[in-house]
Amino acid sequence: MSNANPRIKKIGVMTSGGDAPGMNAAIRSVVRTGLSYGAEVVGIKNGFKGLLSGDVIPLKSKDVSDIIQRGGTILQTARCKEFMEPAYQERGADMCRVFGIEGLVVIGGDGSFQGAEKLANLGINTIGIPGTIDLDIACTHYTIGFDTAVNTAMDAINKILDTSSSHSRCSIVEVMGRRAGYIALWCAIATGAEIVLLPEEERKTSEEIVKNIVENRNRGKKHFLIIVAEGVGHCQELAHTIEHITGIESRVTVLGHLQRGGSPTAVDRMHASLMGIYAVDLLMKGAAKRVVGYSDGQYLDFDINEALQMKKDINELRLRATKILSIK
Ligand code: ADP
Ligand code: F6P
Repeated sequence: MSNANPRIKKIGVMTSGGDAPGMNAAIRSVVRTGLSYGAEVVGIKNGFKGLLSGDVIPLKSKDVSDIIQRGGTILQTARCKEFMEPAYQERGADMCRVFGIEGLVVIGGDGSFQGAEKLANLGINTIGIPGTIDLDIACTHYTIGFDTAVNTAMDAINKILDTSSSHSRCSIVEVMGRRAGYIALWCAIATGAEIVLLPEEERKTSEEIVKNIVENRNRGKKHFLIIVAEGVGHCQELAHTIEHITGIESRVTVLGHLQRGGSPTAVDRMHASLMGIYAVDLLMKGAAKRVVGYSDGQYLDFDINEALQMKKDINELRLRATKILSIK
């Protein structure tokens, strides 16, 4: 394809915030779509931190070969507190101008979108692509990495269930999600957990949890699974209480960062690739200050400010599923 819009001759791409499987597929897509328009593409390493220090590398088609199947991000990622301050944001915009970056694609979560918005306000055409295993971006039903992370967590929980049922134990599994319970919710439905604890819900008391376990035991259940989102915490305390009151041996497993790694699923590779194309198409149409989303089978885009104001509720049907489907 020829250079459809000579306005954007150089595109920058960065990953920012927590990494997520599929970010590499998005980088590859941004690079190759940019090149297909005849633009130059550069990678900014380590998110906004790398932008401030001018850590910018050229990216040719070959530089993104063999990465679609790899977890993590070849551009590295970082958190950069300074970037919250206007003086550093101005320095970031200046740095874009120094490197001739006319369009910037930021792959990250809500925090990264706030940084992207600040750069857009300073005149840099910026597009956000949702990349976080937490799925906690309101404008989209899909975020890069969630599908891989939830499948990784589910596989691990299946293994825990094998040993938990052999020993007739209660397993308490903490999954990632400091402020969001989507991984916990999906894992709970996918593995038939008796109880799920989410940061979005009113905190369940130990008494309610113990009562649920005793009722399930009275119905003949021999092993129990409780999935806890990281943001809820208190897993050890809960295990101790359950064991103390019911006599059921209880064990805690914290899945931690293994959920952020691994080769991305086909779902993550597909959406990341298409979102990369969508983002570059937006830049080439002259759009700025937008974020890409996916909803009801369509890729969409929103003004970053509007996207950041949106609120996401936990789906009622899914919550109901966690309450009724593990009862026999
Ligand atoms: P995520 O993008 O996964 O939500 P963070 O919340 O850690 O991750 O944000 C990533 C980075 O985005 C931060 O380290 C910072 O550099 C930048 N950022 C976050 N919030 C703001 C903000 N209000 N203004 C400017 N930059 C921000
Ligand atoms: O990537 C999102 C997330 O995994 C959150 O669920 C978690 O709270 C956070 O990142 C932890 O990230 P880190 O250990 O890198 O600070």
